Amino acid sequence: MNANAVATDRIYNFSAGPAVLPESVIEQAQKDLWNIRDSGIGILEHSHRGKVFDRVIEEAEADCRKVGNISDDYAVLFLQGGASTQFGQIPMNFLGPDRIADYPNTGEWTTKAIKDAKKFGKVNVPFDGAAENFIRVPTDADLEGKLSPNARYFHYCSNNTIFGTRYPTPPRTDAPLICDASSEMFSRPIDTDRHVLIYAGAQKNLGPSGVTLVIIRRDFAETANSNLMEMMDYRNHIKNGSRYNTPPTFGIYIMGLVFKWILEQGGLESMERRNAAKAQLIYDAIDESDGFYVGHSQSWCRSHMNVTFRLKNPDLEGAFLKAAAEQRMDGLKGHRSTGGIRASIYNAFPRAGCETLAQLMRDFANRHG
Ligand SMILES: Cc1ncc(COP(=O)(O)O)c(C=O)c1O
Repeated sequence: MNANAVATDRIYNFSAGPAVLPESVIEQAQKDLWNIRDSGIGILEHSHRGKVFDRVIEEAEADCRKVGNISDDYAVLFLQGGASTQFGQIPMNFLGPDRIADYPNTGEWTTKAIKDAKKFGKVNVPFDGAAENFIRVPTDADLEGKLSPNARYFHYCSNNTIFGTRYPTPPRTDAPLICDASSEMFSRPIDTDRHVLIYAGAQKNLGPSGVTLVIIRRDFAETANSNLMEMMDYRNHIKNGSRYNTPPTFGIYIMGLVFKWILEQGGLESMERRNAAKAQLIYDAIDESDGFYVGHSQSWCRSHMNVTFRLKNPDLEGAFLKAAAEQRMDGLKGHRSTGGIRASIYNAFPRAGCETLAQLMRDFANRHG
């Protein structure tokens, strides 16, 4: 790549999600849509209980475990309803009127998670970034003395897609850790053993929309409330291997291909190195612009997945986006709640696209600065 992006009809896609996928995955999927594994039937048309799909889901789970170094103490689930369903499913399973959980608020997604958790139990918000417009995540020092002594769990969002911040390392707490890793899952090594539950909507780093990866400690799942509706009960999905009902078969299939692709690329250490270098190209263009571009996040917690900034003169943003479109770059408009520019550069986003954007930023600043 990405002579490819120009040689073919594909362009640089900076979308925050659904987002860019590895080209080799799309090419394989094109073939398998027609006829997967010489079965004479395409992947979309196979029964979720047939032999072909048995292999697809078994391999997806095995490769997921390899990528994330996930032990058998954890179940790997492929669920529906997006990450947003997890906002409610987690407290429904693990909270209650007399139970409390810690939820630092670091952006729009944690705000929504908090709203849902309050419907099922008590919520302590040990840090609220709203007043600062979410320019950072809490440090361990910020959290000290603010955590609930008997928290049932501590929920955090490791990468804040809209504001472009991330936790450099998981927060320090004695409570069982739960992580919304939707916008950075498998973009860097993850210490699964420090968590009881990690979840991620697939449509950023893992696959298409419609499937959510949930990694949950089996013994923690056993402590869930009783009398839950079956689709909301993690134990039910564990018992049925994610096939209590018809699962999102295509999404699971694509995720499986993406896991294989990550392994071929050298795994999570390699992903992290590449992602850090890609993000640095754009952050350098911001930092060297003499204030022409203003980054949203404080530098110590800058996201490697979603680079957010605005132009000092917001009237130039339209012209900037137009210049980007002319150079075959799409999806750079910031989220509707923040405005500005957001470059989402997930695992599969090519380095050449980051170079092209950084060059445009310099040229544009020279022309208009
Ligand atoms: C960090 C984070 N959490 C949760 C969500 C919600 O995901 P979904 O649309 O799959 O419900 C998103 C979506 O962008 C997100 O970025």
